[in-house]
Amino acid sequence: PTQERYPVLRLPFSTVSEQDVAAFARIVPGLVTTDPAELAAHNVDWLRTVRGCSKVLLRPRTSEEVSRILRHCHERNLAVNPQGGNTGMVGGSVPVFDEIILSTALMNQVISFDDVSGTLVCQAGCVLEELSRHVEERDFIMPLDLGAKGSCHIGGNVATNAGGLRFLRYGSLHGTVLGLEVVLADGTVLNCLTSLRKDNTGYDLKQLFIGSEGTLGVITAVSILCPPKPKAVNVAFLGCPNFAGVLRTFRTCRGALGEILSAFEFMDAACMQLVERHLHLARPVQESPFYVLIETSGSHAGHDAEKLGSFLEHALGSGLVTDGTLATDQRRIKMLWALRERITEALSLDGYVYKYDLSLPVERLYDIVTSLRAHLGPRAKHVVGYGHLGDGNLHLNVTAEAFSTSLLAALEPHVYEWTAGQRGSISAEHGVGFKKRDVLGYSKPPEALQLMCQLKALLDPKGILNPYKMLPTQA
Ligand code: FAD
Ligand code: MLT
Ligand code: ZN
Repeated sequence: PTQERYPVLRLPFSTVSEQDVAAFARIVPGLVTTDPAELAAHNVDWLRTVRGCSKVLLRPRTSEEVSRILRHCHERNLAVNPQGGNTGMVGGSVPVFDEIILSTALMNQVISFDDVSGTLVCQAGCVLEELSRHVEERDFIMPLDLGAKGSCHIGGNVATNAGGLRFLRYGSLHGTVLGLEVVLADGTVLNCLTSLRKDNTGYDLKQLFIGSEGTLGVITAVSILCPPKPKAVNVAFLGCPNFAGVLRTFRTCRGALGEILSAFEFMDAACMQLVERHLHLARPVQESPFYVLIETSGSHAGHDAEKLGSFLEHALGSGLVTDGTLATDQRRIKMLWALRERITEALSLDGYVYKYDLSLPVERLYDIVTSLRAHLGPRAKHVVGYGHLGDGNLHLNVTAEAFSTSLLAALEPHVYEWTAGQRGSISAEHGVGFKKRDVLGYSKPPEALQLMCQLKALLDPKGILNPYKMLPTQA
């Protein structure tokens, strides 16, 4: 059988038998689901663009149970799809065919928190927002934040190497994750769950699993460094007359705000119209071609507000921005952030979404949006650009009433070729999953792709972990 819409053949894995289900029931009694109605939500991705037909969902509570499950699957040659909060954007979180879904939903315990170093150790299925709450009660924050915080799991964040809204300040999970516990394809438990800041005892093996998207092992626990909770947070929401103005605002604001700048996000007018129309959120400033959200996080409220205030005064006075508003209280800060964080949701209510997540030189960040809009004309419903400008990360999204192969042909490989021409990345933060595995060559040389395949073969020789994902088809 082949997957509809995508030309891919099922690999010769075994199919789940009654004996397999009985074996799973012995490992995780009461936590084996075969009810199709319950499985439905786990078989389709958040964007509702890919759908599998798994017949079994397993919800272990411990690493030991994950180990026993994988040992069984390895022996029986059964394919497995690790799943966290199922908020992934590249079709990696759901099966392509009948892979067993191994959910971390019940692995949701905090193991420890050290309030001197800020090190949090927890199981992989903890929901990001709950972890945020846990550490904030102790005067720390999570080093990452994203719009999917209410559903995504920390294990899924690590597996995708999620970037998000705090990347500009706290950097990548490759820096903030201190240790991992991972169960390998054959059931071996790899305990690299240290909390050390420095550890040069040979290869830093945990790095292999950060961003491995479930293809090399199942992450079962995470040790992560949390920064102290800033005493003062301010947000400015600005309107800019053009993209050159957005770039100049970024440069000026980096200089003026320095160490207190904690986010610099942008969105275009089309994004604002979509959040207004589909989510009924109110635009907080005059209508503009571009909007910028600037966040500061520091230790002195008066000092930070003064800095941001004088930056805003300068930006308005010099015509860099045409309108702006400042929020210092939690409720308004949340409201301004919602305009940016909920673009994804607004887009999904607009129709079928073609999603591109590109790393580009910041000066060229918006060029592709303008040129695609002209190129596609009425074939697209909306062509929008938004993203983490401070990190050089554009989210280019195109919506249409429904999926069409002709619109897809107008987008691909054009978007990828253009990105490669800029020496950019075809996946800045969402990963590769099922959807992007055959376009990796636009951003990685063949030697690197070959080494990826060799690592996969070493760690998962039978290829049972998240097959059809991340690695190029020929692998
Ligand atoms: P899933 O979607 O369940 O899985 C994602 C991948 O990781 C799959 O390949 C899966 O097999 C694998 N996986 C999951 N758990 C494990 C595990 N324990 N061990 C091994 N493999 C595992 N991403 C960003 O980078 N930045 C953003 O700002 C951002 N914002 C988002 C906003 C919204 C509204 C949504 C819906 C998504 C957003 N994302 C963003 C996408 C992002 O990839 C996910 O939200 C998140 O990191 C995935 O976590 P999850 O638990 O949902 O993983
Ligand atoms: C975001 O920055 O909003 C996320 O990465 C999700 C998306 O790209 O839609
Ligand atoms: Zn993003």
